Amino acid sequence: MKRSLSVVVLLLAALVSQAQILVTREDRERAEALVSQMSLQEKCALITGQDDGFHTAAFERLGIPSVRMADGPQGVRNKTNSTYYPCGISLAASFNREIAHGVGTGIGWDASARGVRIMLCPGVNIYRSPLCGRNFEYYGEDPYLSSETAVQYIRGIQEQRVIATIKHFALNNQEYDRHWTSSIADERTINEIYFPSFRKAVEEARVGAVMTSYNPVNGSHAAENGWLIGHLRRWGHEGIVMSDWTSTYTTLGCLLGGLDLEMPKGYVMNYEAVSELVKNGTVSESVIDEKCCHILQTFAAYGLLDKPMKDESIPENNPASREKAYAAALEGPVLLKNEGILPIKASKKNNIIVLGPNADCIPYGGGSGRMDPIEGTTTTLYQGLAALGKKYSTTLMDWREIDEAALKKATAVIVAVGFNHDTEKEGADRSYSLPKGQNKLISRVASINPNVIVVANSGGEFDVNPWIGSVKALIMAWYGGQEGGRALAAIISGAVSPSGRLPFTFWGSEAKNPAARYYHAALPEVNKVKKNRDPFPNTQYSEGIFLGYRGVERFGVKPMFPFGYGLTYGSFEYSGGSVEQLPYGLKVSFTVKNTSKVTASEVAQVYVSKVDSKIPRPARELKGYEKVTLGKGESKTVSVTLTPNDFSSYSASSHDWVVTPGEYRIIVGDSSASVKIDLPVKL
Ligand code: BGC
Repeated sequence: MKRSLSVVVLLLAALVSQAQILVTREDRERAEALVSQMSLQEKCALITGQDDGFHTAAFERLGIPSVRMADGPQGVRNKTNSTYYPCGISLAASFNREIAHGVGTGIGWDASARGVRIMLCPGVNIYRSPLCGRNFEYYGEDPYLSSETAVQYIRGIQEQRVIATIKHFALNNQEYDRHWTSSIADERTINEIYFPSFRKAVEEARVGAVMTSYNPVNGSHAAENGWLIGHLRRWGHEGIVMSDWTSTYTTLGCLLGGLDLEMPKGYVMNYEAVSELVKNGTVSESVIDEKCCHILQTFAAYGLLDKPMKDESIPENNPASREKAYAAALEGPVLLKNEGILPIKASKKNNIIVLGPNADCIPYGGGSGRMDPIEGTTTTLYQGLAALGKKYSTTLMDWREIDEAALKKATAVIVAVGFNHDTEKEGADRSYSLPKGQNKLISRVASINPNVIVVANSGGEFDVNPWIGSVKALIMAWYGGQEGGRALAAIISGAVSPSGRLPFTFWGSEAKNPAARYYHAALPEVNKVKKNRDPFPNTQYSEGIFLGYRGVERFGVKPMFPFGYGLTYGSFEYSGGSVEQLPYGLKVSFTVKNTSKVTASEVAQVYVSKVDSKIPRPARELKGYEKVTLGKGESKTVSVTLTPNDFSSYSASSHDWVVTPGEYRIIVGDSSASVKIDLPVKL
């Protein structure tokens, strides 16, 4: 027996009480009235990017201003210097909704201060492989964690009257040959893994704009894919659907596929091409009118037709934004290994050496997410450590000229390695190994001094095998933004306990990842058809719904560090565990106690597991989490509400989410591999 969830979804949508900006009937009527006064030529200007490719068209006689847009997602860029926030994967690793909301708010302030009213973020493409050059911009492998992070980030931005643009819709999970390789996935996989972040952004954050992806999805380019874009409208999206920069191919495809705004300019939706199709009757002008309405009704809803673009009351160099960046930078880093070396407590004996390519720079990933922070506002890792005070004597050593004698005498050696804007970036996939020379550097340092702490900047997993056994600690630092160095110093010194958790499975080997066999499997095919893209080369999503930790039991592979894992300086005990029936779901409650002597944060994770499922289902799926900060000996009761949606799976035959009645387990743990509390429930 299956039960459709549509009614439940509607009821829940009504319960969402956040301050969302909705398109009202007045906004719609205003848009229609404006469009009725526009010529076809003007309409074509409105549906295509103008000027520098980051503006919409202005129509003075109608009172329609040009709207400026900017990337995203690590802050406001494009012709400006601005606060550089921790990257997307770091926000996801914080497992803290408030942090994501805070960064969104900061970006909203920074955009308002600059007159930017459309932010081209967040990016929510699921982490399928560590090789994807843009993982650092995104929120990891789990659709629930990604959705929760995205919703909060979007709300933060949009509460400042700035339109957020969720991207890239959809299945844009590799950078290699991203314009041409078609992502081939089945309906269930798409709905369970790749759609949820977009859907929740529409339903729960009323995201103002959606950007389509470069790649074809199941054989048709995203910007022209009516099947794909149709989902957005069915979920209730009343805002703008824009293309990624240069991802449009045919006028007819874009006109009829549902795209509203072609960026950065009218390659195919220009007046000449559009008017020909309108004049010869292939396309009705009402199709263009609808696109214009989507754009103008969104502008009206955000007050862009009435209020000034720039908020003069917000400084461009905003201390409040920097605080949001710092708060986020503190919660992203994930401590994966610690053999008693961290934290480094204050002591006159401290003699710390920091070295490595990322020791005294501000690391960032490359491409459109690359940031230009405001001069004089950034702190490198070395600067952060040096500012800790006299009880932390820290020396920066040139990693190309290692002084063995000095290194030997150090009480701890911090080796700062990882990727950067050249080695991990948009438009290319990266290597699984650290960039050239870095493994050798770590191993050499570890052979001289056993007290090595590796701090690594990256957007995902990389090969740690050459040295993981010979270092004392490993911190995944992602790209921590302009405050990253300050935050890492606070963590290393123990002023703050690390609290980030892995937002993806760290397999410890490239081949263990269930998606590895299929990711880039298209390579030989791509090379073969390079000169003739008809048909497209394909990349098969054959691991299906069993991506990341969902594949652990299914494929019998054990990761080096599981999804949701991360060490702290504290220790926690779980107790209790009860399930209370609510009118619209189940309330799961349990107690977390800090059994250590230091204040620390725990990320309690709630997974749902179907017992004896007749259809293939992951052994467990994340459906709730709470981060709790507890002082020494303190405890707290945590409650997580699960709705019927959280027990459902997608049925390709009914094209809907269904809840299968029967037995389930609610598993509470501190990672996807742990069981602290196990509660049976029957639906
Ligand atoms: C990227 C988008 C970005 C756009 C504008 C494209 O190359 O894929 O994410 O928003 O450029 O810079």
